[in-house]
Amino acid sequence: MTPDATLIRRIADKVGTPFWLYDAGTIRQRIADVKFMTGSPGVQARFAMKACPATKVLREMAAGGIWIDAVSGNEALRALRAGHAPGNTPPVVCFTADVFRDNALDVVLQNNLLPNIGSPGMVRQLADAGYRGPISIRINPGFGHGHVNTCDTGGPSSKHGIWHSQLMEAKAAADRAGMQVVMLHAHIGSGPKFQELHDNLTRLAIAYTETVRHFPDLTAVSLGGGIPHSYRERETQIPIEPLRELFTSCHQRISAAAKRDIRLEIEPGRYYVAPSCTLITRVHDIKTTETNEKGAGAIFAMVDAGFVDLIRPAMYGSYHHIDVVGKEDAHGREPIVIAGPLCESGDVFTRGGADEELVPRSLPRPEPGDFIAIRDAGAYGAAMSSNYNSIGRAPQVWLEPDGSLELISRRETLDDLLKAETSERL
Ligand SMILES: Cc1ncc(COP(=O)(O)O)c(C=O)c1O
Repeated sequence: MTPDATLIRRIADKVGTPFWLYDAGTIRQRIADVKFMTGSPGVQARFAMKACPATKVLREMAAGGIWIDAVSGNEALRALRAGHAPGNTPPVVCFTADVFRDNALDVVLQNNLLPNIGSPGMVRQLADAGYRGPISIRINPGFGHGHVNTCDTGGPSSKHGIWHSQLMEAKAAADRAGMQVVMLHAHIGSGPKFQELHDNLTRLAIAYTETVRHFPDLTAVSLGGGIPHSYRERETQIPIEPLRELFTSCHQRISAAAKRDIRLEIEPGRYYVAPSCTLITRVHDIKTTETNEKGAGAIFAMVDAGFVDLIRPAMYGSYHHIDVVGKEDAHGREPIVIAGPLCESGDVFTRGGADEELVPRSLPRPEPGDFIAIRDAGAYGAAMSSNYNSIGRAPQVWLEPDGSLELISRRETLDDLLKAETSERL
């Protein structure tokens, strides 16, 4: 349900608009779902924290016994500060990298994190930095895909991981460098429908059963993330029982092939957090264009959130359910384009189609002052927000089931935007 209009007004009066509103109960339910899926012994869930790195969320994961997949030095440090344990026994924080950037190698070495390498040269880079511990290898298995083509996570056009036929070369390099390969990892994306996801995960698990015998130090394999959230048909989410059965049987088959217990990991991001957060924005004006030889006219609701807040529609043409708050049940509907404040034509939340053109949404015509709720914005929402146009990031508000509210990040100010600027001579 879209949050109640009175509550939204109360929060807006305190923190302004736009703002992110997290529902703690929804996150906890999704954590419980994932714990159910991974409930059998030897199966472990991580949270791909890139989806939503707020400390409050990371603490919920720690409290739920969910481990972390981090992709930058600072992500790993955020997880550690939020209470996740350092070290690699067990590897609570796994460091999955396409490239070791900035403080990444230092953070891995100083906190003894398990590095999950995504390109062959990383063995040498780790060795040069003095690392001699266990590693994980991320494989590009050659199949799988994301929710759009630019999110390809497995196949010849994917930049992620080491191509599957080069795996043994990477292992040989690790052996020479005195590193033990303790985990094999692949992430095949959340785009597919349930059956395709199931088939792809099964295919990956079978590939592992054929590979484990070459890896005497192996203690775990990861099936990656990619548990989908249904953004359009919000009432029909994926069934979780078959995934529990799948993960249980994959763990058993892989362990049987290895003749010892091999932990099976999954690391969803979006599934935990997508439905837990709504981006609330306010309508500032309504304006129209008229049909001419270039195309059809449109009704624009001009709101104060833009792709600096939620970039998914502009970046991938992603669909988010939209409500005009308090008018959800109104009868008269019109095709409305919801557009933001940025100096970019693509700053529109109602986009889609092959050419990512405007796709007006059938909505009650809003009025200036109305609130618009952009739903399912918890994954890759605030996490991908930016400071383009020098608009500070919007505040994040946390709602507990008892109705209590907490401001978990405030609106960024000009000083926040300028604080990294210097005039240091080099
Ligand atoms: C290595 C890895 N693991 C997990 C995820 C999480 O994917 P999702 O949020 O679709 O579950 C990603 C997403 O990009 C990823 O690259």
